[in-house]
Amino acid sequence: LERLWGAGPLHGINTVVTAGPTYEALDPARGFTNRSSGKMGYALAAALANQGAAVTLISGPTALPAPAGVRRIAVTSARQMRDAVWACRGAMDLFVAAAAVADYRPQTVLADKLKKDADTLTVTLVRNPDILAEVAALTPRPFTVGFAAETGDVETKARAKRARKGIDLIVANPIDEAGVGFAGDDNRVILIDKDHAGAWAAAPKTEIARALVREIIKRLPRTAS
Ligand code: CTP
Ligand code: CA
Repeated sequence: LERLWGAGPLHGINTVVTAGPTYEALDPARGFTNRSSGKMGYALAAALANQGAAVTLISGPTALPAPAGVRRIAVTSARQMRDAVWACRGAMDLFVAAAAVADYRPQTVLADKLKKDADTLTVTLVRNPDILAEVAALTPRPFTVGFAAETGDVETKARAKRARKGIDLIVANPIDEAGVGFAGDDNRVILIDKDHAGAWAAAPKTEIARALVREIIKRLPRTAS
């Protein structure tokens, strides 16, 4: 097989995958984070490596082991994740943003643990960098894949997000549905490119990851046949 298939269809494709949540500290004991197990991003990193890609997985805090054959860089905050991605920008053919990045962080990180002195507490949050949008604005830009966890009219919101961010593919998933998304092993997605949206049946995240990799391979300029 090795000889028939060479080293896989993604051989030589430098790939960066972000996964997991980010954590934005407020004080030494507390912070703000997003719900994300990291399972979808880790499954994608593994599936990409299985097809021969050189994969760097830039991961926020998760309980998952690094997939075999993948270089993992552990980060905590959105800004650390951005810096780690940015360091890879010179050699990035494919970027997959599966992380649930915190959109905001506390404006100031307190050196001492906050005491419950007052009845109400107001925290000022400031915007974090949009890692996916920054990568999509590179020239030349890698083939870029984003995710969109949405409620309500998922497809319409995700179509608009793909166009706004100027990315090649967006993987939309409803998060207001029982049994799929977040912590679970299953996911239900709608794959959207510039001229088509296709809803997939609910399936294990590992299976969805393999199918997404097939769709990426079909569309990648260097591997299209
Ligand atoms: N993303 C990112 N950096 C951010 C925020 C999001 O790289 N600071 C990426 C996510 O990894 C995902 C995509 O952008 O692939 C969409 O994230 P999402 O939160 O759905 O979109 P936002 O642009 O943050 O918009 P909003 O949260 O307002 O819907
Ligand atoms: Ca967001």
